[in-house]
Amino acid sequence: MADSPFTEKEILRYRGETPGCGQVIHLNNAGAALMPAPVIDEIIAHIRLEGNIGGYEAAGLVENGVHEFYVTTGRLLNCAARNIAFCANATDAFTRALSAVPFQEGDVLLTCDDEYVSNQIGFLSIARRIGIEVKRVRTASVGGVDLDDLDRQLKKWHPRLLSITHVPTNSGLVQPLDEIAGIIRNYDTLFLLDACQSAGQMPLDVAALGCDFLSSTCRKFLRGPRGAGFLYVSDKALASGLEPLFIEMNGADWIEKDRYRAHEDASRFQAWESAYAILLGSGAAIQYCLDVGVERINQRLKYLASYTRNALSKIEGLRLLDKGPALCSIITFTIEGIEAKDLQTELLSRAKINVVRTLREYAVIDFDRKGVTSATRVSPHYYNTESEIDRLTACIEEILSDRI
Ligand SMILES: Cc1ncc(COP(=O)(O)O)c(C=O)c1O
Repeated sequence: MADSPFTEKEILRYRGETPGCGQVIHLNNAGAALMPAPVIDEIIAHIRLEGNIGGYEAAGLVENGVHEFYVTTGRLLNCAARNIAFCANATDAFTRALSAVPFQEGDVLLTCDDEYVSNQIGFLSIARRIGIEVKRVRTASVGGVDLDDLDRQLKKWHPRLLSITHVPTNSGLVQPLDEIAGIIRNYDTLFLLDACQSAGQMPLDVAALGCDFLSSTCRKFLRGPRGAGFLYVSDKALASGLEPLFIEMNGADWIEKDRYRAHEDASRFQAWESAYAILLGSGAAIQYCLDVGVERINQRLKYLASYTRNALSKIEGLRLLDKGPALCSIITFTIEGIEAKDLQTELLSRAKINVVRTLREYAVIDFDRKGVTSATRVSPHYYNTESEIDRLTACIEEILSDRI
């Protein structure tokens, strides 16, 4: 097991800056992480300002802070501010990108078995409306996409779009992204990457990946507020004129009765109305993440995730479900004789431990393959400690023995 890259003092400092750490054992960071104090303060300060002087007037006073959101997000992804659009959530970001793809009847959209549920539903909806074909890359025996099959299908179908979820919501799988990027580079298929669970967990470099779009939320491993997300749009996608189906006044100028001109940058993909407090809080969260260091966070999460898997694997009747060429800080399991829903409730009421139940309908293909209908999901972040994980496993043992 790799060592933690943080000293105990550093972890204590991060915990001290996180009010929620004193209230709960929060192991639901893949749902929404605990926000650090600077993020909470930023949001509240702006809401106060809006209350005191008016929403539009308050926005006028924080133009620099708003611009910083785009610069900071660009730094996280290794791109310029002009390539970032602020969105209401990850799905909002994703569907704006999806709506820009010029699908025609008979086109192929290539995706994978572990693509996020809402993305899968969106693809099926386009298939029903326009008559595209949704094809999925075969899953490799180790889990994740089969790279040979990916290459084969790209060659065979010339898909209009490849859509890949880097880290699915329902398992610890990390897709072999560098290898996928190495393959898709040889084709002119558009590449949309859902990085909702990987942003803030592991480094992301859109320049190296060469993706056309990347969507994410801010509330998960980036530790931002709920109701925020962003979309990266590459220069190539912008220059080729791609624009969201329902482009609006933030993204284009209405220049003649029957004509509009789309903006040059990714503002083309953003709505005019935004929650400024939430945007500023998201910027603060991303800056906080960069200050802690994404590479170190990633190392710490690898350490804590294997600590957690190791501790859980000692519980009798517990089956770990995660499978992939690499695993991350999302740990899913079932336990014989107890429903995930009951385990979630008991952990919360006995020890204020936050975990969550995940269901078959969030991951039909994966769960059917594993033969389960629900599972418990535990997702530690770098501010969690070994003793919190020990408390989790002890509490599960306690719940199980009380049931006998
Ligand atoms: C992999 C993945 N993609 C997309 C989403 C959707 O994010 P949002 O709820 O912000 O739309 C989630 C949410 O859990 C997710 O896990």
